[in-house]
Amino acid sequence: MARHNGAVGVDIGSAAIKVVELSGDGRADGGGTVVRAAASAPTPPGAIEEGRIADVAAVGRALRDLVQGAGIKTRRAVAAVNGQVALMREVRMPQVSRDEIRQAARFEVERYLPYPIAEVTFDTVVVGENREGESGKVDVLVVAARTDVLRQHAAALQAAGLEPVVLEVEPLAVVRAVSPRAASEHVTACIHLGSSVTMILVAEGEVPRVIRTVAFGTAQLLEAAASRLGATGEAPEVLQARLAAVSAGDDVPGLREAIDDSLSSLVTEIRRSLEYYGGRYRAAVPDRVVVTGGGAALPGITASLTSALDMPVELGDPFPALGGFPQTGAADAGPAYAVAAGLARRGVDEP
Ligand SMILES: Nc1ncnc2c1ncn2[C@@H]1O[C@H](COP(=O)(O)OP(=O)(O)OP(=O)(O)O)[C@@H](O)[C@H]1O
Ligand SMILES: [Mg+2]
Repeated sequence: MARHNGAVGVDIGSAAIKVVELSGDGRADGGGTVVRAAASAPTPPGAIEEGRIADVAAVGRALRDLVQGAGIKTRRAVAAVNGQVALMREVRMPQVSRDEIRQAARFEVERYLPYPIAEVTFDTVVVGENREGESGKVDVLVVAARTDVLRQHAAALQAAGLEPVVLEVEPLAVVRAVSPRAASEHVTACIHLGSSVTMILVAEGEVPRVIRTVAFGTAQLLEAAASRLGATGEAPEVLQARLAAVSAGDDVPGLREAIDDSLSSLVTEIRRSLEYYGGRYRAAVPDRVVVTGGGAALPGITASLTSALDMPVELGDPFPALGGFPQTGAADAGPAYAVAAGLARRGVDEP
C-alpha cells in the first residue's frame, strides 16, 4: 500500500504546463490509482528555451496558480526534462554489480556528452537481459542530463510550493503512461507530438527499446496549416479553432496535403525507428501504435499517420488504466497528459 497520499506529475512543456494528481486507491497490492485532477495552463512566453527553464520565477508562478486552481493537495511532485537535454543510451554489459554498472555508465556518459562529467547527473535502468543468446549480459539504459538543467526544474517546482521527489526524463514517463503494466511481449509504439519536439518510442511491455526525440512539433504543423489557410500570424488558438471547423465541415483545398507534407519528415523518422526496432530486437511490427501529446488533438492526425505508415494508429489515452479521467477537464484531452500521467505514476510507485 502507498505510504503517502499520492503525487503530482508536472510536465513543463514549451507551450503548456500540464499537471496530473494521482493517489493510491488503498488496494493492498498497491496496483490501483485514483486520478484526482488533470489540468493545464499556457507556459509563460519565452520561459522555456530548448528544453531548459529560462525563467524559473515565471514558470513557478504559472505552476503555482495551476496547482491551486486544480485543487491539488499533494506536495510530492515528479517532473522531467525532455530528450533534447538528456542523453539516453542503451548499453549491453556483463551482468556485474551495481557499482560496476555505474562505472560503465560513467564511461559511456564521458564518451558521448560534450561536457565535463562533473556537470552531469546520471542514472542507470536495467532494461532486461538481452535475448540474443549472449548469456550473462544485460541491457542497461544510461540516462544523463546536465545538473544545472535539473536544478532549474527543481527550483521551478519549489517556487510553486511543491516538493520535487524525482526528476526523470520525458520518454520514460510516456512509456509508463501508454503501456502500463503491459506484458513484456506486448509491443507498443508511441508518437508523442509536442509543440516543439516529438518523441518516437517503442516499448516491450514497460521497457523502452527505442527512444528518439526529433526537433519537429505541432508548431511546424500549424504553420503549414496556417499558410494554407492564409492565416499566418494568427494566434494558435484561433488557428486550432479554424482547423477544427474545417475538419468538421467544409473542405479547404490543399489543407490536408499541406499538413501531410509537413508531417512527411517525421513519418520518415518514425519508419526508421520501427525498422531499427525490427532489426535489432524482433522482426515484428508493434501490436499498437498510439499518438499522444498536444498534437493528438490535431483533427485527422490519426488518419494521416495511419495512411502514411500503413498501419493502424490510434489515440493513446493514459487515463483509463489509471482509474479514469477526473471530473474536471475535457474528457478527450487524455493524450495531452501522457507525460504528466506517467510522472504521477512514478511518484505514486516511489516510496
Ligand atoms: N485542438 C488542437 N488542434 C490543433 N493543435 C492543437 C490542439 N490542441 C493542442 N494543439 C497543439 O498542441 C500543442 C501543445 O502540445 P503539448 O502540450 O504536448 O506541447 P508541449 O509539451 O508544451 O511542447 P514540447 O513538449 O514540445 O515542449 C499546442 O501548442 C498546439 O500546437
Ligand atoms: Mg511536451
